Amino acid sequence: MCQHIGKTLVKVDRTESTNNYAIGQVYENEVEEGTVFLAHDQTAGRGHFANKWESEAGKNLTFSIFIRPAFLAVHQTFMLSKVVCLGIENCLSKFIDDVKIKWPNDVYVNDRKVCGILIENGIMNSQIRQSVIGIGLNVNQARFHSDAPNPVSLKLISGETYDLDALLKDILESIDYCYAQLVAGKFEYLDQAFHDRLYRFEEWHAFKDENHHYTGKITGVNEIGQLRIQEKEGPIHEYHFKEVVYL
Ligand code: BTN
Repeated sequence: MCQHIGKTLVKVDRTESTNNYAIGQVYENEVEEGTVFLAHDQTAGRGHFANKWESEAGKNLTFSIFIRPAFLAVHQTFMLSKVVCLGIENCLSKFIDDVKIKWPNDVYVNDRKVCGILIENGIMNSQIRQSVIGIGLNVNQARFHSDAPNPVSLKLISGETYDLDALLKDILESIDYCYAQLVAGKFEYLDQAFHDRLYRFEEWHAFKDENHHYTGKITGVNEIGQLRIQEKEGPIHEYHFKEVVYL
């Protein structure tokens, strides 16, 4: 039974971006907290930093969740990413192996991206007044044409075709469960669960930042969402999004 997220589902046949659609609805109408806006066909899906999000009509899940997490202070914003990534990871892990959360906002399976998340917050007086959480989950798409580096879908992983409505229901229940933990103040539990599922956590790998290539080990994500990497025979680095590249 959903406590916060998914009680109301608004399905649209076609829209540019469900995040834009949700934001428009929130400005124009009274939108109940937890409402989900889903598009069968998203014609100009947005990713981070003006990237496009590729999704073939009717093949995947492209949707946005509207919440009002006013109980979070601005420095706690990254908790929303943790909650959403965990909810998706928990759900997919029931039927897919090797699902991981890739910092800051992706869900990966075997080094490939199956889900991207774009969270857009409205902040007033140091509080998050509203948040639109856009989720693109690649489900039944068999070919990807954009220059995204490593997309994959559930179908490409397992060979199966998935019922989108049933999958959406499971994903929303799982995100709702994790969000309820956040509302209940279980920050440490969520933080631990997030780190337990973090891609390349505590393993030596190659990284690149604006100064150099190096071998390092991810040792965690701090409260404000920076990735912490221990360089081999070097210092500890802390990065905001896009300041470091996984090689
Ligand atoms: C990323 O990995 O860059 C984030 C991708 C987010 C894509 C989703 S699809 C639903 C929602 N609407 C959008 O325009 N973007 C998000």
